[in-house]
Amino acid sequence: MGVESTLATALGSVSGGVGWFFPALAMALAYFQYDIMDNESQPIDMPTELLHPAYDFIVVGAGSAGAVVASRLSEIEKWNVLLLEAGGDETEISDVPLLAGYLQLTKLDWKYKTEPQGDSCLAMEGGRCNWPRGKVLGGSSVLNYMLYLRGNRKDYDLWEQQGNPGWSSKHVLHYFKKSEDNQNPYLAKTIYHSTGGYLTIQEAPWRTPLATAFVEAGQEMGYQIRDINGAHQSGFMIAQGTIRGGSRCSTSKAFLRPARLRQNLHVALNSQVTKVLIDPATKRAYGVEMVRGGQMYRIRAKKEVILSGGSVNSPQLLMLSGIGPKDHLEQHGIPVIHDSAVGENLQDHVGLGGLTFMVNQEVSMVEHRLHSVSAVMRYALFGDGPLTVLGGVEGLGFVNTKYVNASDDFPDIELHFISGSTNSDGGRQIRKVHGLTQGFYNAVFGNINNKDAWSVIPMLLRPKSRGLIRLRSKNPFDHPLIFPNYFKERADMDTLIEGVKIGVALSRTAAFRKYGSELNPQPWPGCERIPLYTDLYWECMIRHYSATIYHPVGTCKMGPSWDRDAVVDPQLKVYGVTGLRVIDASIMPTLVSGNTNAPAIMIGEKGSDMIKEFWMNRRRKNFGLK
Ligand SMILES: Cc1cc2nc3c(=O)[nH]c(=O)nc-3n(C[C@H](O)[C@H](O)[C@H](O)COP(=O)(O)OP(=O)(O)OC[C@H]3O[C@@H](n4cnc5c(N)ncnc54)[C@H](O)[C@@H]3O)c2cc1C
Ligand SMILES: *[C@@H]1O[C@H](CO)[C@@H](O)[C@H](O)[C@H]1NC(C)=O
Repeated sequence: MGVESTLATALGSVSGGVGWFFPALAMALAYFQYDIMDNESQPIDMPTELLHPAYDFIVVGAGSAGAVVASRLSEIEKWNVLLLEAGGDETEISDVPLLAGYLQLTKLDWKYKTEPQGDSCLAMEGGRCNWPRGKVLGGSSVLNYMLYLRGNRKDYDLWEQQGNPGWSSKHVLHYFKKSEDNQNPYLAKTIYHSTGGYLTIQEAPWRTPLATAFVEAGQEMGYQIRDINGAHQSGFMIAQGTIRGGSRCSTSKAFLRPARLRQNLHVALNSQVTKVLIDPATKRAYGVEMVRGGQMYRIRAKKEVILSGGSVNSPQLLMLSGIGPKDHLEQHGIPVIHDSAVGENLQDHVGLGGLTFMVNQEVSMVEHRLHSVSAVMRYALFGDGPLTVLGGVEGLGFVNTKYVNASDDFPDIELHFISGSTNSDGGRQIRKVHGLTQGFYNAVFGNINNKDAWSVIPMLLRPKSRGLIRLRSKNPFDHPLIFPNYFKERADMDTLIEGVKIGVALSRTAAFRKYGSELNPQPWPGCERIPLYTDLYWECMIRHYSATIYHPVGTCKMGPSWDRDAVVDPQLKVYGVTGLRVIDASIMPTLVSGNTNAPAIMIGEKGSDMIKEFWMNRRRKNFGLK
């Protein structure tokens, strides 16, 4: 693929956008041959005629976890591995950290929406929240905001206590470090980080003065500035991200590019798996059915099929293949292979969007100021400047509400600090990707369009509510039904309201008062009758601008054999069949207390090791060895 067609793909994938900016950026990148002529960027797609009828392993989905699994399994030279990905390759635009939000609702996104629930997502069109998921080599690691977080050590210790040996914080730390190549020496030298792995991690090389104000504000409120991925979690920090030289480091770049010359790894793009083939008599998974270029193919797996389709698609595929709740499958006329709680136990991180504070200086990220020739040049030439900021998120805080004991160091709210807000692009892009109605946008942000502001998204770390993924139909190309059930448990709302109050308190610190920080005074439509800034008012705001932080997990729950809600065992093997595992974020029994990309990568690392151990030991046993 030549430079022109690569650029055409990059531009074609971005709908609308901001006039001249993308062409200017793309031209600058092409002019400086940024990344493009690098042979690591050569396409790795395998033509259909060269695909084999059978492989040892078939990995379905090249996302955060699937890219790792395919890369690690193909380290064993005598194993043939096929990686099937429904989407195409990454683009130059998806490399630019600040533009993360521009990838949603393009062809790189599955473009899911939740079902209307009547008591959340009320400011969105049709009462439905957008649920972006990556449909591209690298999966959601190409759409995400690149924030690198691991969660709280207690999360993993609880997984182990629930009957999942080998998943404690001590065990998983090994796998986080195995992937890692940390570029910030002050972090890399600690026992919590490492260098030399495939996945590059660094702080954004550029920041606004507001990022500094944010961590100082945290200190004023009694929190320490610390590495939140280190010894303690309560505290504030400048965000660490999966970026390399100022550009996005997706799992495709990290784990697949270095493996692209391996003869035993075939990667097929634009190949959507529609079913796992399972012999109803032996209950053994023996391959997959996939559609590519309008044609259906069946490919055999000699050892295992591994589903890494993510928390929406993996349960959908299992149900389409006859593994799921019996009544539900029968209702759709799908022959039941194994009755199982697939699609249940859905958990997501939800927060309040649009909590906006005006400032009196030009210190924030306002789109029309950033999209300048100098910003483009700084990025294209030096991998620096405002375009390297992680989707606009500069700082992170993990705080304790009155509902937890702060000395437990198990915070219940995460603050995402953004040096801009929904109004910073004049309503062009963020409004759309958040699905907000024009009426709501005009009422809340119309008066402050393009004005300097910052925002904080308080996010509930450990929701008690559980949602559900169901089939809309037995057609694999139909989107499944998504019921997030946000705030069905009252405690979730109570906790998030306290989180909002902490977010507002930040604006009253000296660090933020210095910039005249003032809450956007516009009353929110739908909340006018409620006295301003009471708990009921915060609740009303939350129910209107309910913002997913895009971390759905749990729909193929890992658990011991006696756990009736478990879909996979602690080795990630699907209960009720053989030759089939799920390795992605859907296996989390409970949502971790942090963003989910690094945990999904860790699951990919650990899952690959378990597969290697299983097949290596087996061979030793066959030879009568221990
Ligand atoms: C907009 C957004 C922002 C985010 N921001 C952050 C962040 O800043 N930090 C963070 O830690 N996390 C973030 N996340 C979450 C994080 O990226 C995900 O938790 C993680 O990528 C999930 O990994 P996964 O392997 O489970 O699934 P995915 O990465 O979604 O991978 C699934 C892959 O399988 C493919 N696939 C699915 N079905 C099929 C099929 N039938 N046939 C073939 N291929 C199929 C998909 O196309 C996709 O490539 C964000 C997510 C989004 C969407
Ligand atoms: C909080 O935890 C600490 C340490 O475990 C304990 O000493 C203290 O009594 C607890 N406080 C409350 C209010 O429960």
